[in-house]
Amino acid sequence: MTDSLSWIENELKDIKNKDLFRILTELETAQSPEIIIEGKKYILLSSNSYLGLTIEPRVIKAAIEAIERYGTGSGGSRLVSGSTDLHRQLEERIAQFKKTESAILFSTGYLANTGTISTLIGKDDIVYSDELNHASIIDGCRLSKAEIRIYKHLDSNHLESLLVNDKNSKRKKLIVTDTVFSMDGDLAPLPEIADLADKYGCMFMIDEAHSTGVLGKRGSGGTEHFGIEQRVPIVMGTLSKAVGSLGGYIAGSKKLIDFIRNRVRSYIFDTSLPASSLAASLTAIDIIEYEPERREYLWTLINRFKKGLEDIGLTVLPSHSAVIPVLIGQAQPTLDFAKSLRENGVYTPAVRPPSVPEGMCRIRATLMAKHTDKQIEKALEAFKKSYKNLLTDK
Ligand SMILES: Cc1ncc(COP(=O)(O)O)c(C=O)c1O
Repeated sequence: MTDSLSWIENELKDIKNKDLFRILTELETAQSPEIIIEGKKYILLSSNSYLGLTIEPRVIKAAIEAIERYGTGSGGSRLVSGSTDLHRQLEERIAQFKKTESAILFSTGYLANTGTISTLIGKDDIVYSDELNHASIIDGCRLSKAEIRIYKHLDSNHLESLLVNDKNSKRKKLIVTDTVFSMDGDLAPLPEIADLADKYGCMFMIDEAHSTGVLGKRGSGGTEHFGIEQRVPIVMGTLSKAVGSLGGYIAGSKKLIDFIRNRVRSYIFDTSLPASSLAASLTAIDIIEYEPERREYLWTLINRFKKGLEDIGLTVLPSHSAVIPVLIGQAQPTLDFAKSLRENGVYTPAVRPPSVPEGMCRIRATLMAKHTDKQIEKALEAFKKSYKNLLTDK
C-alpha cells in the first residue's frame, strides 16, 4: 500500500527547520502557582486561571456535588436532552453578571466565536477585524465567507478609514475585537469602537476571554471597565480562563440569543456542557463578583512584576491585564530563554508563530492571584538570569 500521508514528513521537516515544532509538557498537578513536571517543582507562570479558581475548594465542592446529582456527561445537545436547570441558571447568571438581557452557553469559547460570527454575517457582508484578534475570531470570519477587512492593531483611525470607504454600501457590517488580546495583554479602545459602530451602522462584537474576572470592579470585564455595558450588542466570553472551568458564552439581547439558539450550528449540533463545569462556573462567578480582594491582589502582583521585568531591562509589551508579554524576537532565542527560565524553576513556554507574528516571539507570562510575593521574587530572579544568558549568547 502506498503511503498517502507521506507528504506530512516534508511538512514536519519544514516546521522543525523553522524551530516551530511543538511538543506537549505534562503537568502532574492542578493549575496551582507551583506545579510538578517530571517530578520537579516549578513556579507556573503560564496559566489563564488568573484568580486561581480551578483549585478553589468551594468551586471544587460545587463540581463534585453536581456530578453526584447529574452524572459526568450531559448526554445530548441542548435542543434534545442536554438541557438542565443548571444550564438555565448559568445562562441567567451570566446575563446578570454582564448586565445583558440574556445569554447562551457553548461548549467552548472557540465554538462561541466561530459559530456566532459565521452565522451573523455571510458572503454578502463585511467584517472588520483587529489584526491581532484571536484565532477563533479569525476562523469565524473566514467561515462566514464575508469580506474581511483587517485593521491595524488597536487603531480606530485605521478602522474608521475602512468604514468610510464602505460608507455607501448597504451590506451588513460587523466590527469584532478582543477586549484584552490573548498574546499581548493590551486593551482595545472599546468606547471609540462603539462610537464608530454607531456612526457607521455596524454590529459590534467583543471577546471578553481575558478580561473577565480581571477588569472592572465586579470583575465582569471590559464593558464594565469602560462603563459601556449598554453599548456592545454582542458580548462573547469564556468560562475557561479566570472562571476556572470550561465553556463559552454570548451575552446580549433576548432577540440575539433566540436567533443563536435557532441558527448557530456549533450550538445546535454539539453536546452540551456537563454539570460539573456548570456548577463550578456558577460558584466561580459569585466569587469573582463578591470577593474583589482577589482581583485587587492580582493587580498588585501585575504592577510589581511588570516593574521588576522593566528594571531588569527586558522589553515588556504594554499590557493591561494579567497577560504580561516579554518580547524576545526570533524563535530560537525565545526557546533558549524559556529553557533557561525552566532551569531556574519557572515554567512558561516560548510563544512562536502562528500564535504571534514572525519575529515577535515572546515569553507570555501570566499571573495568578494565588502567587505569593516570594514566588514573584523568585520568578523575577529567573528572568534576570535568563536575560543575562540571552545577552551573553548574542
Ligand atoms: C481571546 C480568546 N478568545 C477565545 C478563546 C477560546 O476560548 P476557549 O478556550 O474557551 O475555547 C481564547 C482561548 O484561548 C482566547 O484567548
